[in-house]
Amino acid sequence: MSFFRSVSKLSKLRSRLVQQPGLNGSVRWLQIQSASESELDLHSQLKELIPEQQERLKKLKMEHGKVQLGNITVDMVLGGMRGMTGLLWETSLLDPDEGIRFRGLSIPECQKVLPAAVPGGEPLPEGLLWLLLTGKVPSKEQVDMLSKELQNRAKVPDHVYKAINSLPVTAHPMTQFVTGIMALQVGSEFLKAYEKGMPKSKFWEPTYEDSLNLIAQVPVVASFIYRRVYKNGQTVPADASLDYGANFSHMLGFDGPKMQELMRLYITIHSDHEGGNVSAHTAHLVASALSDPYLSFAAALNGLAGPLHGLANQEVLLWIKSVVEECGENITTEQLKDYVWKTLNSGKVVPGFGHGVLRKTDPRYMCQREFALKHLPDDPLFQLVSKLYDVVPPVLTQLGKVKNPWPNVDAHSGVLLNHFGLTEARYFTVLFGVSRSIGIGSQLIWDRALGLALERPKSVTMEWLENYCKKAA
Ligand SMILES: CC(C)(COP(=O)(O)OP(=O)(O)OC[C@H]1O[C@@H](n2cnc3c(N)ncnc32)[C@H](O)[C@@H]1OP(=O)(O)O)[C@@H](O)C(=O)NCCC(=O)NCCS
Repeated sequence: MSFFRSVSKLSKLRSRLVQQPGLNGSVRWLQIQSASESELDLHSQLKELIPEQQERLKKLKMEHGKVQLGNITVDMVLGGMRGMTGLLWETSLLDPDEGIRFRGLSIPECQKVLPAAVPGGEPLPEGLLWLLLTGKVPSKEQVDMLSKELQNRAKVPDHVYKAINSLPVTAHPMTQFVTGIMALQVGSEFLKAYEKGMPKSKFWEPTYEDSLNLIAQVPVVASFIYRRVYKNGQTVPADASLDYGANFSHMLGFDGPKMQELMRLYITIHSDHEGGNVSAHTAHLVASALSDPYLSFAAALNGLAGPLHGLANQEVLLWIKSVVEECGENITTEQLKDYVWKTLNSGKVVPGFGHGVLRKTDPRYMCQREFALKHLPDDPLFQLVSKLYDVVPPVLTQLGKVKNPWPNVDAHSGVLLNHFGLTEARYFTVLFGVSRSIGIGSQLIWDRALGLALERPKSVTMEWLENYCKKAA
């Protein structure tokens, strides 16, 4: 609340305040800004915001630095630090029941207030980027300016394509993607500034340059990989008249208006999921050593490529297709139940279900379901996904150990992409990665602006834990 209040003081020029009720009944103030020179520029907005937020953090440290946030148990140490509060991540916050909120706004709220390309359509990802960085809802004009700025930053040097082309075309698309990002790192502004001896207080500036460049470049690299692997290397040039999501869809080779809308929604909802998930946390950890945004984002992508994290979207479509192959499209509930058990009994997880934090159906799943109901209600694979919603949770509950039997974001995305012709499941995690550049890039700017510390949690051995517990008993 105080963040948004302080933000409202910022605008010395024309701005319009609207009252926005939160889901928890609280009221927060958002700004919907009207056009004026400096307000159209994201960089100058941040420049104004940063000193305030630095002061806020300093005060928090001074006044409340010793306040306890909870107890750490042995289970938490052995259980992947579940439930341990240990990171500062400003751009979004995850509630186990409500799901994600971007700067306080839920997905349905974002769909309502963020500017869209078509009336009543899906949010423009550029708008979400603005929101994540500033905490403010941008106007359409601000979003259009940011679209143009990203287009101007989208240049990818030749050596990047060469690095990717040096890999076998059969290499996993995520391996090719990480290689491309590492090759882009050659142009890091942060690296250059650091080598010149830039003071710590200015680190956020080259981080801003790198993060925005990276966000602009990833769709170009990602679409190059798609065309290289699946379309005989015939690339599609960018279209400067299109927004970020539509242009990405275009460079992949899909120009239908519904696919463009899907891409805007997809990029918006996959962008950020607070700081503790594998990809976000990895980026934050690596960046805490003052590694630049390219190095940090490449590290994040390596985590995203794991089947328990981002690769799950690939696994879901492959699994759904294996169901159809074995049982046909008109599968009965009983057959589906048997197939789920067969998967579990062979020692595998059911992809697209469960979550490390969420304890209810993922709102990212729900908005994709709504998209499907609106645009592809008769798609047979969508109908199968709907059936899985009824069949899988009771089976997982019966296992007795699954903390959340409900579907997550990955349970739905594959069938939507598949419907519009993007059928190559092995590529799906790259799309996830493109979107993640927005959340991770935004937070990395704030990491440097706030001067967040090097990450260095304490680790212990089993012997240390045994001795500690004996003494504590
Ligand atoms: C996401 C995921 C990794 C979270 O893991 P987690 O926090 O350890 O989840 P839980 O605490 O509920 O796990 C408890 C047990 O239930 C199992 N479990 C959880 N989700 C499961 C699923 N979808 N299918 C089968 N078993 C599952 C776990 O493997 C674990 O088993 P173990 O004790 O034998 O190791 C897990 O739910 C999963 O593997 N889901 C499928 C992959 C997926 O969709 N990933 C994308 C997440 S957005």
